[in-house]
Amino acid sequence: MTSPRFPYAPAPESRAVVNLRASYGLFIDGEFVSPADGGHFKTENPSSQEVLAEVSSAGPADVDRAVRAARRAQEEVWGPMPGRERAKYLFRVARIIQERSRELAVLETLDNGKPIKESRDVDVPLAAAHFFYYAGWADKLAYAGFGPHPRPLGVAGQVIPWNFPLLMAAWKLAPALATGNTCVLKPAETTPLSALLLAEILQQADLPPGVVNIVPGAGDTGAALVAHPGLDKVAFTGSTEVGKQIQRDLAGTGRRLTLELGGKAANIVFEDAPLSQAVEGIVNGIFFNQGQVCCAGSRLLVQEPIVEGVVEALKRRLDTLRLGDPLDKNTDIGAINSSAQLDKIRRLAASGEDEGAQRWSPACTLPDRGYWFPPTLFTGVVPAQRIAREEIFGPVLSVLTFRTPEEAVEKANNTPYGLSAGVWTEKGSRILHMAARLRAGVVWANTFNRFDPASPFGGYGESGFGREGGRHGLEAYLEGSFDA
Ligand code: NAI
Ligand code: MG
Repeated sequence: MTSPRFPYAPAPESRAVVNLRASYGLFIDGEFVSPADGGHFKTENPSSQEVLAEVSSAGPADVDRAVRAARRAQEEVWGPMPGRERAKYLFRVARIIQERSRELAVLETLDNGKPIKESRDVDVPLAAAHFFYYAGWADKLAYAGFGPHPRPLGVAGQVIPWNFPLLMAAWKLAPALATGNTCVLKPAETTPLSALLLAEILQQADLPPGVVNIVPGAGDTGAALVAHPGLDKVAFTGSTEVGKQIQRDLAGTGRRLTLELGGKAANIVFEDAPLSQAVEGIVNGIFFNQGQVCCAGSRLLVQEPIVEGVVEALKRRLDTLRLGDPLDKNTDIGAINSSAQLDKIRRLAASGEDEGAQRWSPACTLPDRGYWFPPTLFTGVVPAQRIAREEIFGPVLSVLTFRTPEEAVEKANNTPYGLSAGVWTEKGSRILHMAARLRAGVVWANTFNRFDPASPFGGYGESGFGREGGRHGLEAYLEGSFDA
């Protein structure tokens, strides 16, 4: 049975709220400056390939200048400042993010390609919530469980990816600043614009110069930053490959490191699960942000008796997803962030077919320009296939089956990653049983991809180490001290 389909009239969000500049400088010591030895690059809208702006990239001398500005600000201003004073700045930043939320959401969607309903309802509110949450901690660090006088580490170098550009900046900056550290942040080369708007917001909040420095650029800028001897701490979110390289480079330097890397999460559906709720959760788990999510539920494990019903219900649901203009308020699936990422998704999806899995996508027309990939489902997947093992980072779901809870645990844990997992069942005891056995930093029960600044997030194994969010997130930026 197919339900009648009503067409949607276009409902585009206006771009007029965004004041795009033709070019952007580096943000160092409280000002936008031209690079000394860096260059320039263009950032585009991945849904149309329109060039949005030219952005300065930082060379080694620029990175050095940023690190020195951060050091001075840490020693002279931000470190000695009482926590209750630091909190005021963080509250102010959070409030300005809320006030300028439409502008941030539209800019994020333009630069990243994600649907406006996600940047508006998820990315931007969560970024504000992160600043609010850590503002609350800034004057209570003595009660956080790290001794009566926990001290900041000093200067943090932070490298973030392109899938949640503003939110990842908030995840990195808010806990570092609350604990009295100063920061040099490198946004990803395909999505620098929301971090640069955040720099304007920091100016608007009168944050003292040098407390946060933003140095856009590609991998070489990131490499120059993480290798800088003036840092006390490096925080990285991105690919496992680069994370491993950074870990090798930092070994023996005494600099602290946290890594948040890839994932291949299992989303496990038991036969007693509420089916329509589970289908919504599966869809949200893998098609949210076009699947470009490190904790995406990319491996669906369904208990054998209900697999046909689940696949059928999923296909019906995928048939109703609207792919297209990310600025349209009714769009569910936006553009893939870059041509490089699209190539990777295409390559891995092709390997799924070559290795014998069955591929299905709903009928949908892809726009002529931009980077697009339809929501895709693979059935008949076995654990040895690449699509069941490698992170695709795209809107591609692999369906596997299991018979017993033990088999589900074994299959779910059969991965070098360990970032997240999902369990769908009516039984509370089964949720606890599974959560205790799944090797994943986050286990969601009867939901997926739910985030809250109070809840720690991070991985095991090749998904990295260290936690972001919650009280645990403070630890990554504090030197514990238990003396009086
Ligand atoms: P990437 O790891 O190259 O990029 C992430 C960030 O690291 C960017 O800011 C980049 O400029 C920077 N970077 C690159 N090389 C660096 C180096 N040598 N030293 C320091 N910083 C460096 O990831 P990429 O190429 O954008 O994506 C490749 C794959 O990585 C994706 O397909 C996905 O599987 C995974 N990925 C995982 C993310 C996560 O949230 N855990 C986020 C982005 C990508
Ligand atoms: Mg872009």
